[in-house]
Amino acid sequence: MSLRARVVALIAVVLLISTLMGTLVAGYQTRHALSAELAAGLGGARQTVNSALEDLPNSDHPARDLHQLIATFDGNLHVRSALLTADGRTAWASKTTLPDQPAPRWFRRLLGPDPTRLSIAVPAGSAGFREIVLTPTSEIDAAAAWREFIGVVMVLCGSGAVGLVLVYFVISAAFRPLRALAGEFGRIGTGDYTGRVVETGPTELLDLQRGFNRMAGELAVTTDRNRLLGDQLLTIQEEERADIARDLHDDIGPHLFAVNMDAEMIVQLNEVGRHAAIPEQVRAIQAGVRHMQRQVRDLLVRLRPTRITELGLNAAISDLISFWTVRRPDIAFDVTLLEEEAQLPETTKDIVYRVVQEAANNAVRHADPRRVRIALEIDEAQVLCVSITDDGAGRGDKIAGGGLGLVGMRERVTSVGGSLTFGPTDGAAGWTIRARLAPDPDRTVKNTAAIA
Ligand SMILES: Nc1ncnc2c1ncn2[C@@H]1O[C@H](COP(=O)(O)OP(=O)(O)O)[C@@H](O)[C@H]1O
Ligand SMILES: [Mg+2]
Repeated sequence: MSLRARVVALIAVVLLISTLMGTLVAGYQTRHALSAELAAGLGGARQTVNSALEDLPNSDHPARDLHQLIATFDGNLHVRSALLTADGRTAWASKTTLPDQPAPRWFRRLLGPDPTRLSIAVPAGSAGFREIVLTPTSEIDAAAAWREFIGVVMVLCGSGAVGLVLVYFVISAAFRPLRALAGEFGRIGTGDYTGRVVETGPTELLDLQRGFNRMAGELAVTTDRNRLLGDQLLTIQEEERADIARDLHDDIGPHLFAVNMDAEMIVQLNEVGRHAAIPEQVRAIQAGVRHMQRQVRDLLVRLRPTRITELGLNAAISDLISFWTVRRPDIAFDVTLLEEEAQLPETTKDIVYRVVQEAANNAVRHADPRRVRIALEIDEAQVLCVSITDDGAGRGDKIAGGGLGLVGMRERVTSVGGSLTFGPTDGAAGWTIRARLAPDPDRTVKNTAAIA
C-alpha cells in the first residue's frame, strides 16, 4: 500500500471515529432531553386530569365532562389519554398526530424506553367508567431527532468526503518530489550517478534533496577517480614491463652473448691444445653469470612487490631504498625502521609500504632532493607515524594538476581510519608527507586528514 493511500486511509479512519463519537454524544444528549420532556408532559397531564376529576362529583353530566377531558389531549405531542370502561374497554381516546416519517425502530430504541404510563381512577359512580390512562408518546420527538440526526450525518459525510479529496490532492502534490527522489535513487542503484533532483519543497524534503545531490556528486567523483586510478595502474604496469624488457635486453643480453663467446673460445682452445688458457675463460664465464644473477635478483625484487607480506615491511622498504640508491646514487636515503613490526596487521604494513613507495617516487620525480628521510615510529599513544621528508626544491605548486598518487595514498590511509598530511616542510626546504595509523585496525586516529 502506498504511503499516500495509507495517510488518506488514516485520515478517513480518524474522521469516521470522530463522527461516530460526535453522534454518540449528540444521541446521549437527545435521549436525556427527550425523556425529561416526556416526564414533564406526563406530569402536566396528570395535574390536568386530577383537577378535572376533583370537580367531577359535582357535575350533572359526568360522561360529557370526561369526554371533553379526553378531547383536551387531542394533538398533544407528549401524552395520549384514554378513558376505560368498567369492563376495561376504551370508551374514548385522544387523537395523537403521528409523524409523516417516523424514526426507525432501532433509532427509537437507542433513545431509550418511554416513561411508564399512568392510570388514574375515575371517582365511583361516574357513568360506569373506571380509569383514565395517560400514555407518554415519543413518536413526534423521535421523528424530529431522527431528521436532525440524518442532517448532521449528511453534513459530516459531505464535509469528510470533500476533506478527503482535498487531503488526497495535497498529499499527492507533497509526495511528488519524493517520487522523483525514489526514481533517482533507483538510477543510482544501477550505477548511473548523473541524475540530480530539483531542490524544492518543505525544509525536510530540501534537506533530503540536498543530501541526495551531494551524495550523487560524491559518488560520481569517486567513480571517476577510481577509473583514473585503474587507468594509471595499467599505465604504471605497462611502463614497468617496458622497463623490465629494456633491462633484460640491455643488461642480460650482452652478458649472455659474452658467455656464449667465452664457451666457444673454450672449445677452440681445447681443439688447438691451449689448455692453459681455458681457466681464464671459465672465470670470465663465472663473472658474467654472477653479474646476470644479480640482475635477475633485482628484476625479481621489482616483479614481486608482495614481498612485504613475505619478508616483512622493513625488508620491503630496504629493497625499495636499494632500488633507488642504484638508480640515484646522488641522493642520500636516511631510513629509520621499526624495531618490532610483527604486531602490525598485514593491511597496515601494505599501506605503509605503498605510502613510502609513492612518497619516495614523488621526491625523486618532483623535487630533485639531495637527501630523503624515511622514518617509521610508534608514538606513546601507540599510533604508527610514517614520515617521508625531502630537502628538494618542490613547493607543490603544480599540486592541483597532479596525478593520483597523493589521492590514492590518502584513500588507502583513511580507509583504515588513519590520517595523512602532506605539503612543504615547516620552516625548511622540501616536502613532508606524514601518515598516522592506529596499529590496531579497530581504532581510528583522531585527527582527520588535511592538506598541510
Ligand atoms: N616531494 C614532493 N615535492 C614537491 N612536490 C611534490 C612532491 N610530491 C608531490 N608533489 C606535488 O604534488 C603533485 C601530485 O603528486 P601525485 O599525486 O603523486 O601525482 P604525480 O606524482 O603523478 O604528479 C605533483 O605533481 C607535485 O606537484
Ligand atoms: Mg606521484
